[in-house]
Amino acid sequence: MNLAPPRVVTIDDLRGLARRRLPRAVFDYIDGGAEREVTLRENCRVFDEAAFRPRQGVAVPQCDLTTSVLGAPLALPVLLAPVGSSRLFYPRAEEVAAREAGAAGTIYVLSTLSGCRLEDVRHATTGAAWYQLYLVGGREAALAGIARARAAGYAALVVTLDTPVAGLRVRDVRNGVKEVLAGGLAGLPYLPQFLTRPRWLIDFLRDGGLMHFPNVVVPGREPMAYLDVEAALQQTTVTWDDLGWIRDAWGGPLLVKGILTAADARRAAALAVDGIIVSNHGARQLDGVSPTLRALPEVVAAAGPRVAVLMDGGIRSGGDVVKALCLGATAVLVGRAYAYGLGAAGGAGVARALDILRADLVRTMKLLGCAAVRDLDRSYVDVPSDWDLRRQHNLADVLA
Ligand SMILES: Cc1cc2nc3c(=O)[nH]c(=O)nc-3n(C[C@H](O)[C@H](O)[C@H](O)COP(=O)(O)O)c2cc1C
Repeated sequence: MNLAPPRVVTIDDLRGLARRRLPRAVFDYIDGGAEREVTLRENCRVFDEAAFRPRQGVAVPQCDLTTSVLGAPLALPVLLAPVGSSRLFYPRAEEVAAREAGAAGTIYVLSTLSGCRLEDVRHATTGAAWYQLYLVGGREAALAGIARARAAGYAALVVTLDTPVAGLRVRDVRNGVKEVLAGGLAGLPYLPQFLTRPRWLIDFLRDGGLMHFPNVVVPGREPMAYLDVEAALQQTTVTWDDLGWIRDAWGGPLLVKGILTAADARRAAALAVDGIIVSNHGARQLDGVSPTLRALPEVVAAAGPRVAVLMDGGIRSGGDVVKALCLGATAVLVGRAYAYGLGAAGGAGVARALDILRADLVRTMKLLGCAAVRDLDRSYVDVPSDWDLRRQHNLADVLA
């Protein structure tokens, strides 16, 4: 498929192509958010509130996009976020996306709810990979997954804290996702959306369909069936106390994902986590929480210099990446930006998404008069004054 300009200029163009290739239920699974989708809209809109402050007359012949996270070098400060069930979007999609991340010199974060075996995904990339942990299937299944991830060479473990239950994704309910998965008569009215996307359907069936999650295995049992996951997700609360046994079992760098407040950042720092990911799960869990860019400065201030702070949510351009780095993120993750690419054209789509973000980054840095992403700081952006008030309030809270 031709992904060159003028056909594909922005991430939104990839979104349009994904919409055309994927059945509505699959596209909406990527695109949708929780409840009224207030936070979904806000995650993107809030980037418009931060205004650049360029330094004019500065020549930037070369742009250095490199940085490091937890000691690992990155050629691009953009990681690929864990996206469950990616294999719905394209055959062997987790392996495909991991390969493209490695080729771009960045890190792929594999979801527990992957359609590909974690060992195969690890082998697919020349770069580093992290493993994202849910407690689906309970502690036994998690311990088995952690041991496999360690043996396969995953460099860090990401524990997602914001999913004690699955959020209410209204689009998924309306599209009959549950009924289709159950496979009975109740699913029949929803089937035409799949039949009108024959290319996707053939790819999906050739890839074996998505019947189970090969990384969720209660010892002595078969991998968890797709249908059972919703029920299992109802019992996946990870508490701060759980981080103790998870850390002991893992024995390597640990990040927590889903932090939005200074109080939780301090709690994570006190438990000596190595990294925090400021995230609202791409607005798929609790609708009405802060957009993540807005939450970022207070978390950075509270986490302290020892803890790496990353963020995700709403990033659709390299300019968005720059704003997040200016507000203190070490690096960012993107979810939908590459998931649209997968849905549009598999690996070529992911590569194109990363190319767009990279080209945007270079152009934005040159226009800002800044030669290295590691030099980006608050002096390059203006944010509304109440953002600072909130930060000061939380700082006062930290110092009290
Ligand atoms: C389709 C989809 C599936 C996701 N699955 C997971 C998951 O399995 N585990 C997780 O921690 N986060 C998951 N997320 C959240 C992403 O890791 C990330 O936080 C979010 O996508 C960032 O927002 P963005 O999509 O606006 O970039 C998912 C997001 C999407 C869009």
